[in-house]
Amino acid sequence: MRSYLDSAVFLRDLGREPILIDRAEGVYLFDRSGKRYLDAASGAAVTSLGHGNLELAEVLFEQARRLNYAHPSKFVTSEVVELAEKMVARAPKGLTRVLFTSGGSEATEAAVKLARQVHVARGETSKNKVITRRSSYHGATLGALALSGQMGRRQPFVPMLMPQPMIAPTSCYRCPFGKEPRSCALECAEDLETTLMSEGPENVAAFIAEPIVGSSSPGRHPPDEYWRRIREICDRYRILLIADEVMSGNGRSGKWWAMQHTGVSPDMITTAKGIVAGYTPLGAVLVKGEFVEDLRKTDESFRHGHTYSGNPLSCAVGSRVIDIIEREGLLDNVCRMGELLLRRLRETFCDHPNVGVIRGRGLLLGVELVADRASKQPFPAKLDIRSRFSHACLDQGLYLYQGGGHIDGTNGDHAMLAPPFIIDETSVEEIVVAMQIALGEILPGGVPA
Ligand SMILES: Cc1ncc(COP(=O)(O)O)c(C=O)c1O
Repeated sequence: MRSYLDSAVFLRDLGREPILIDRAEGVYLFDRSGKRYLDAASGAAVTSLGHGNLELAEVLFEQARRLNYAHPSKFVTSEVVELAEKMVARAPKGLTRVLFTSGGSEATEAAVKLARQVHVARGETSKNKVITRRSSYHGATLGALALSGQMGRRQPFVPMLMPQPMIAPTSCYRCPFGKEPRSCALECAEDLETTLMSEGPENVAAFIAEPIVGSSSPGRHPPDEYWRRIREICDRYRILLIADEVMSGNGRSGKWWAMQHTGVSPDMITTAKGIVAGYTPLGAVLVKGEFVEDLRKTDESFRHGHTYSGNPLSCAVGSRVIDIIEREGLLDNVCRMGELLLRRLRETFCDHPNVGVIRGRGLLLGVELVADRASKQPFPAKLDIRSRFSHACLDQGLYLYQGGGHIDGTNGDHAMLAPPFIIDETSVEEIVVAMQIALGEILPGGVPA
């Protein structure tokens, strides 16, 4: 069998042979031998409508035939306008404009640059820093990585990253303030104000955070009061609140936007991934309409743009993705299947000595594996439990998104589950059974093999 490690492709994982995927259908990927893999992470919260959707394939074909591209500096297309209008109609209050990008990292870059330009336009020219949270991920480009508190991903680029203030992550399982839910006084939200005081609010432009954390600590989300307190602090010091919904948006939480569970409207939402369900690349930033007026007073333009931002092919797909989600009642299915998957995982692993916590909302869930359930002690990083688990799952025909380092950049093993919105009860059970077998294989008797 051919090895792809030494092929012309610069692979992401240089040390482990990748699986050659040949085709995909519904919730399954198929390799050359015909072995199927249940795509229980939708790639990375991308393929929300599953694979091989003919309606979306036809949209792409028709769009490519009629109008494939027009440069956004001088042109707009009806596909871009239609998608923006549909997104605004489903957005939290006040978000009435959509700025398109080609992906999530670009959306982060655009959001923080817009925050800066808005403050400059308002005469608050010293506002330039962006506060972020530890154990977070906002993208791979240098600007977005500088805002990402997942320390493992920052190495070895640290000297190239512009330092930005970081506050505590929200974690009821591993509270950075040593609190229990009953003694919690939202110290993690108060940390924003503390940090603002030391940085000087006049120097801070924005705060960025994921309402439901994705790959850096999947499924982690604070109580909704957290966001009310964060909103108050941002308003008080004129800090723009950016919700990164690259993973949690576009229906994955069971509502269009995870922030809609909290009753709090951010000033911007960044998104990508599920916006086009994996059929073509696209990202977006939903922003308050008043920012347009702010910029009009001074620059007349947003000094930022990318060649493929909001291309008609991707926008035509994005628009149909919204139609399909509504026509097929998929937000309801996300809620029902999300609850079922969470319940079945909790029932199955409630006594497992190496399953620390299972959490999440809708179909964005995470499982943390620990060496000792009682003390929450992580496995030694050198055991590489995260990849041993994900490969044992692949052997069982199950694809999960593995990750780790949520404790300190190195320690902590987890897996993200984010199956397509079209998943049914049978596939939910298939996930649970495959995980059970895989865990039994790598941790027989509940200790490292
Ligand atoms: C929360 C979050 N923000 C931003 C990004 C970056 O998106 P992209 O990979 O499309 O650049 C990701 C990617 O995983 C993400 O999970």
